[in-house]
Amino acid sequence: MDFSIKSGHPEKQRSACIIVGVFEPRRLSAAAEQLDAVSQSYLSNIIRRGDIEGKSGQTLLLHNVPNTLCDRVLLIGCGKEREFNEAAYCQALATAARTVNENGAMDAVNFLPELPVKGREVYWKVRQAVETTESALYLFDELKTDKDKTRRPLRKMILSVPSRRDLSRAEQALKEGAGIATGVAVARRLGNLPPNICTPSYLAEQAVDLGKSSDKLTVKVLEQSDMEELGMGSLLSVAKGSRQPPKLICMEYRGADKDSKPYVFVGKGITFDSGGISIKPSPAMDEMKFDMCGAASVIGLMHTVVELQLPLNVVVIVPTCENMPDGLAVKPGDIVTSMSGQTIEILNTDAEGRLILCDALTYSERFNPETVVDVATLTGACVIALGNHATGLLGNHRGLTHDLLSAGKSSGDRAWELPLWDDYQEQLKSNFADMANVGGREAGTITAACFLSRFTKKLHWAHLDIAGTAWKSGNEKGATGRPVPLMTQFLLDKVK
Ligand code: BES
Ligand code: MN
Ligand code: ZN
Repeated sequence: MDFSIKSGHPEKQRSACIIVGVFEPRRLSAAAEQLDAVSQSYLSNIIRRGDIEGKSGQTLLLHNVPNTLCDRVLLIGCGKEREFNEAAYCQALATAARTVNENGAMDAVNFLPELPVKGREVYWKVRQAVETTESALYLFDELKTDKDKTRRPLRKMILSVPSRRDLSRAEQALKEGAGIATGVAVARRLGNLPPNICTPSYLAEQAVDLGKSSDKLTVKVLEQSDMEELGMGSLLSVAKGSRQPPKLICMEYRGADKDSKPYVFVGKGITFDSGGISIKPSPAMDEMKFDMCGAASVIGLMHTVVELQLPLNVVVIVPTCENMPDGLAVKPGDIVTSMSGQTIEILNTDAEGRLILCDALTYSERFNPETVVDVATLTGACVIALGNHATGLLGNHRGLTHDLLSAGKSSGDRAWELPLWDDYQEQLKSNFADMANVGGREAGTITAACFLSRFTKKLHWAHLDIAGTAWKSGNEKGATGRPVPLMTQFLLDKVK
């Protein structure tokens, strides 16, 4: 989508469609009022007849509104004005994007960013407008024979802001929103691809391709033999049951001088999680293709970082393999030695995410990082605790967890902290090795993070459990691209 910013009167816009809000009950927004005034109450007369109440989700398309320069006016129900919050604003944007895309208008001027949203400035409203519009129009149809082609799709959207004074902030918001939208779309695509296409080698190729697009970015892929030399016995044990070779993808972006410490992101890249010998039940097992969404999100983040040319050093590390059952697969009871030297008794081969992450986290030490954040669809327990709304957050450094929580709030891609207390560490005791890879049913998200914390003592580290937020099940099954907005916001806050 081609976005731009403008400040001006709605009746003076020469456009295929003007988008304005209507509040419940039948109350025109400021921009709608202006159209009403020049058109001798054309809008209010129609509304009085009851065609649109203003409820959230409602739309009404009007043609030939007198004394305007546009072909169409699209009214968007926004709900009650007093209840018009961030969620209602984003819902109105998404409804507007989908409706205008279907109705034949190829360009539109969107006045929704002029609506007041409590506690939010023009910057936030414009950025959300870009992100939400792109997200609402996202389609994954590359593997369908008949593409759902919209006849005349929306190509150009002008976002209207109240005053000329807002223009420069709005331009900044547009640019950053578009960068985030790129990262989100990349993460969604990689997540949605089937596991026979999106293999560890495929992810590595995608990373190498991105590396070619920027001279600030260097991409290196470690092969099985490299990992053997590094002593990554934990990561490699997970890959043993698969015919697909494991990879460790390292992407280094140099946006600042070389003594500025990098922000490191590690993404879990299990391209299919069958559970291994501790095999999963078959219902919904297809959704375990999404077990590489952590990897997808950090690769998406790197697209955003490159597009925005952030003046920071950023490193992305992706340990990636399949978790499959096989004659050579790792078995319950096997003991492996991690790169850190610590031994692990694998009591459940389905707790494989932590086994690949621990070696990647140890590896991250060599970048002398400012902070390390890992992102993983790690535990079903996190979905039980927080549902699909908040990402689980745990970490060993107050400043870092605070910054991530705050980035989640301002980006609308929220996280919620769980305690990483020592009390939980006991659950990982093993009679035969330094630790077990599972800690029993209770507090499963916390004991998974406790396991990782044993490999991050030298780091300022945090863990994002995205098991509930990375994809949607049911009718709208598909990857969400979270937490690309949160991670980008975290980095943007470091620039400022
Ligand atoms: N990838 C799964 C976690 C998961 C499950 C995410 C369901 C989203 C939905 C992970 O590898 C896993 O299997 N975790 C186990 C850990 C358990 C064996 C300690 C789980 O959550 O059941
Ligand atoms: Mn698993
Ligand atoms: Zn998994």
